[in-house]
Amino acid sequence: MVLVVAALLVAAPALAGNGGFAPVEPRSPNAVGIQDTYWVILGFTGFIFVLVEGTLIYFVIKYRRRGRPVEDEGPQVRGHNRLEFAWTVAPVLILAVIGSFVFYKLPGIDDPPSASAAGEPLEIRVEGRQFYWNFRYPNGVIAVDRLRVPVDRVVLLEVTAPTHDVIHSWWVPALGGKFDAIPGKVNETWFQVDQPGLYRGQCAELCGVQHAAMLNSVEVLPQAEFARWFVEQTREQANPRGETALGRATYQGVCAKCHGFRREGLIGPPLTEAAVSNSEAIAGLLREGRGAMPAVGKGWDDQQIRAVIAYLQNGGASGS
Ligand code: CUA
Repeated sequence: MVLVVAALLVAAPALAGNGGFAPVEPRSPNAVGIQDTYWVILGFTGFIFVLVEGTLIYFVIKYRRRGRPVEDEGPQVRGHNRLEFAWTVAPVLILAVIGSFVFYKLPGIDDPPSASAAGEPLEIRVEGRQFYWNFRYPNGVIAVDRLRVPVDRVVLLEVTAPTHDVIHSWWVPALGGKFDAIPGKVNETWFQVDQPGLYRGQCAELCGVQHAAMLNSVEVLPQAEFARWFVEQTREQANPRGETALGRATYQGVCAKCHGFRREGLIGPPLTEAAVSNSEAIAGLLREGRGAMPAVGKGWDDQQIRAVIAYLQNGGASGS
């Protein structure tokens, strides 16, 4: 009893302050639908849990042995029709209510809104790879690990992985459900965020040694700010010079997780200046891999290869 009270005392403020017990606050209509469903199911299962466990504890105390011989048997009940009817019908009704609620919510979770004041939906190709997320905008702009989108606009995601990679899972809890990134297959999901901010997620499928480092985030910007960033990125990626945002993002998302954030070496060797001096060798290494080095850049657009090489050769991340 003391333990239960103590647990409740800890849980109550945690629940109220969302200290990890409750789901994160949903910020997209599909995430709202998922959370409503979560609370309804938790309500039913919580009630049944308390009912069953409470009865169990009550009976354990009430019918304890009290010195009676172990062979003593209680009255045998057979064919109690009303009781049997009740314990058959009640669960069926509960499941029917839960099922109906889920099906009622499902269209709002599955289907993106058909029209929005913020314009046409933005389609993003999301590629899960060991151990980073590559995003591709319709005009070819690339982003790594952090996806930037405008507020209020419907964003359609095509979640996939290259055929030479493994299964990953896209999940930003505040923005909807979890979707597997399966090699060679495309899963579609969407979100529409009503508030600028940074929404964090993490690859949700064990995918190898750096699975834990495979973080993702969605940065939702005010419309004008997004437009400015997008125009800037479109220009910079079409005509890259020296150290670019794409070069840095690619280094941090793709290379640093194994070679260290200051190129100091971690799982992979340190990236000295000499090691990155030959552009062609680096491009080949990125595209084809060698030994323990996987082909992290296989299938990349040229702009991304060039951007990360330029970043490395301009001393990016070396601290010099
Ligand atoms: Cu990708 Cu875990």
